[in-house]
Amino acid sequence: MRATSRPVARIGGTVRAPGDKSCSHRAVMMAAVAEGVSTVTGLLEGEDVLNTAKAVKALGAGVVRTGPGAWRIEGVGSGGFSSPGPGSDLDFGNSGTGARLMMGLVGGHDVSATFTGDASLSSRPMERVLKPLREMGVKAETAPGGRLPALIHGGKLKAIRYAPPEASAQVKSAVMLAGLRAEGVTIVEEKEATRDHTERMLRAFGVEVGIEERQGAGPVVSVRGGQALKGMAAAVAGDPSSAAFAIALALVSGEGEATITGMLDNRTRTGFLDAAAAMGADLRSEADGQATGEDTVRVIARASNLKGITLDPALVPSMIDELPIFAVLASFADGKTKVTGAAELRVKESDRIKAICAMLSVNGVSVEELPDGFIVTGKGPRGVPGGGLVETRHDHRIAMSALVMGAAAKSPVSVDDVAMIATSYPDFFDHMTALGANVIQGD
Ligand code: S3P
Repeated sequence: MRATSRPVARIGGTVRAPGDKSCSHRAVMMAAVAEGVSTVTGLLEGEDVLNTAKAVKALGAGVVRTGPGAWRIEGVGSGGFSSPGPGSDLDFGNSGTGARLMMGLVGGHDVSATFTGDASLSSRPMERVLKPLREMGVKAETAPGGRLPALIHGGKLKAIRYAPPEASAQVKSAVMLAGLRAEGVTIVEEKEATRDHTERMLRAFGVEVGIEERQGAGPVVSVRGGQALKGMAAAVAGDPSSAAFAIALALVSGEGEATITGMLDNRTRTGFLDAAAAMGADLRSEADGQATGEDTVRVIARASNLKGITLDPALVPSMIDELPIFAVLASFADGKTKVTGAAELRVKESDRIKAICAMLSVNGVSVEELPDGFIVTGKGPRGVPGGGLVETRHDHRIAMSALVMGAAAKSPVSVDDVAMIATSYPDFFDHMTALGANVIQGD
């Protein structure tokens, strides 16, 4: 289904950030292999996380929804997964996180399972995770090019020391989750720090995790195999990657202020706020609580006159999922904005460098594609012509970014398909409307 976002004069209001997608996946997975019962609250009930919940259920965990965002998960205990019945593939839909982390978790069990996904996920590389997992002893057969579907045979693993060539929390996490069941101490040396939710949540579930910070490189993370997770009451913080849409909406609108509450405050995730601040954004963060392993903040964002910047590539890993909406900020800024060091965008839900460039061009904003980023020539506040129909390319974040753009452009912006938005932000349309945007769904 299509959707169109029409320009509005002002925005205003308060929304609660939806549950963090990364933390939600991890809470479900860890609860599923813990000893005893866990309750999870604030869970993101997006399709990606629901697919992870279905997968752990197929592997033997007890999974029951007890209320909005509230789930009761009965863990199988250490090594307790069993093979899904014949014909029950584990379908991860659109989710790279679900598929890749579960490869690590399943890999440590005496289990065989077929991993599948949608058209977007089936075109994304799995070898980055399977290479270290194979070294640990996992057996995997994939479609050509290391793509899904993949048949994973887990078993007895040995610990490895691994330095991933890419800055990827998914690779780090898959190796650590496999490491829980490996003989010895599994060590991941990160070239740059990536989101550390696996480390934080494992500790909350009672696992000892080593983290050694380094100057000029990411941390060295380690986990000793054979440790059991203990069931617990886990609370998931709000997602900064989803909150970025409401924040951007406020910043590019001509007038108004938005407050986003309950947002995860973790320096491995908040690069978007730093980048926006460097552009001159009027932003304030105030402490407003705690979730499992994480602090939360409320963010107050006001309409701002933004100026173009050269983004510090060191910020890229902490805002990797926010680069599409950051490109929208750059479109409304005065001057040029340059992003480099973001080649990982090529292997997200779509080739996001191409998708970002197409989204901006079709709406009258000049943009130059680089191998590892892009250069946007901003149109200034309220200066984006709009009027384009944006191709979603099975990518939720491209769809949401385009609809935010339409709220402040001169002419409406449409997207060809909004179905994917439900993978990460089922309340997106309600939240946009609550903040005063004018988004209509329908062909
Ligand atoms: C995620 C890690 C990132 C991010 C993805 C979620 C995670 O992917 O883009 O949306 O939850 O670990 P990479 O590990 O591929 O960078």
